Amino acid sequence: MKRGTTIYLYELAWILPSIALPVGMLVALAVTAFGAGIHLPSEVGRVNPLHVAATPPFDAPGVKQIAPGQYEVGMLAQIWSFTPGEIRVPAGSTVHFWVTSKDVVHGLFIPHANVNVMVLPGQIAHVEARFDRPGEYPMLCHEYCGIAHHTMAGKVIVEPRS
Ligand code: CUA
Repeated sequence: MKRGTTIYLYELAWILPSIALPVGMLVALAVTAFGAGIHLPSEVGRVNPLHVAATPPFDAPGVKQIAPGQYEVGMLAQIWSFTPGEIRVPAGSTVHFWVTSKDVVHGLFIPHANVNVMVLPGQIAHVEARFDRPGEYPMLCHEYCGIAHHTMAGKVIVEPRS
């Protein structure tokens, strides 16, 4: 084979995968987003952070049963705590979290539950998780939010079904 042709084939062997990879990723992204309906935990609504304490459900943060086995939590994050700081639900419950921040950027991360969301002032984050196993699940702030960020935590207590 001529030297020129060999170089051309080498170039082709590099160029084709470098085109195929991003195209494949875009296709996978489109299929999961539009076909399977898989999205990032997202901003669902907006709220004026100055009036958040007067805006439902954040005017009375807490746990509310909305259906059998279904609970809704209106939650406020602020330096350096979550309100409510403790959530009690029976095992097998699905908890719908509606979370916003009163001040700076926080995060809500619950290990071993599918909860990992940024909590931004002015935006309401919605995420839901099912708690099947009884026990204590820590709720952690995982966005650096100031000097006592490491102390910002709460817990979900999942009680065994009686
Ligand atoms: Cu709130 Cu870190």
